[in-house]
Amino acid sequence: MNADYLELTDLTVSFDGFVAVDRVNLSVLPGDLRFLIGPNGAGKTTLIDAVSGLVPATGAARWAGVDLVGRKVHRIARLGVGRTFQTATVFEELTVTQNLDIAAGARRGVLALARRRSRVPEVVVEAMETVGLTERADALAGTLSHGQKQWLEIGMLLVQDAKLLMLDEPVAGMSSDEKDETGRLLQRIATGRTVVVVEHDMDFMRAFATSVTVLHAGKVLAEGSVAQVQADLRVQEVYLGPGRHSQAEAEAVLGEGA
Ligand SMILES: Nc1ncnc2c1ncn2[C@@H]1O[C@H](COP(=O)(O)OP(=O)(O)O)[C@@H](O)[C@H]1O
Ligand SMILES: [Mg+2]
Repeated sequence: MNADYLELTDLTVSFDGFVAVDRVNLSVLPGDLRFLIGPNGAGKTTLIDAVSGLVPATGAARWAGVDLVGRKVHRIARLGVGRTFQTATVFEELTVTQNLDIAAGARRGVLALARRRSRVPEVVVEAMETVGLTERADALAGTLSHGQKQWLEIGMLLVQDAKLLMLDEPVAGMSSDEKDETGRLLQRIATGRTVVVVEHDMDFMRAFATSVTVLHAGKVLAEGSVAQVQADLRVQEVYLGPGRHSQAEAEAVLGEGA
């Protein structure tokens, strides 16, 4: 089995009898830039939570041949699984470099972190370069734009050597320039990594997804290329409501080519 292959089998999450993720089967290969879309409440965040160990689940979430279900959050992170949150969780009072250094320290362990280091580790320099924050190295994270905070968070996953990255609505609230930058960043990091992007922004999805899974009421509704899911009548129904829809209506919501 491919080392960096994510495979969910009948993954299910229930909250007091309410099934938020319902027997999801999903495979993502390295190099893929998989978008996970679906209306509010579809279960997208819960699915990521389950894979990263934040909520209990049943079924299997196999990563690099290891089932993550039932494992603790920090163990899962150690296996190279990283995720971002809808609201960025950087240390606002610390600089960009310090944020990345702490993330790198989390990887190195407590003893290594306790040792004083005067030089910025190579892995931090590289991650800063990759996410385009080199010029802001000494800026306090609190002074970064919303987009830059998301990039910093992605950088923090890179220094931790995450090989599976799950990003929860990374471009929400970004300017259109920042969205383009983010799309190119995701394409760069998806080479050699497995990337799952939860996103609401249809234009962004159309521009950057290599494959798409549509979630609805906790279940996989459709899967395929951007063109395939746009043309899928069940997907159109979920986004546009039941009944027949004009080409113009479908394109207004799902984008050109729907
Ligand atoms: N901790 C929780 N307890 C109870 N219900 C939850 C919890 N987290 C999410 N849900 C419910 O699960 C469903 C899926 O939520 P979520 O995964 O956040 O959807 P999405 O990210 O697709 O918008 C929603 O109906 C939500 O209200
Ligand atoms: Mg969500």
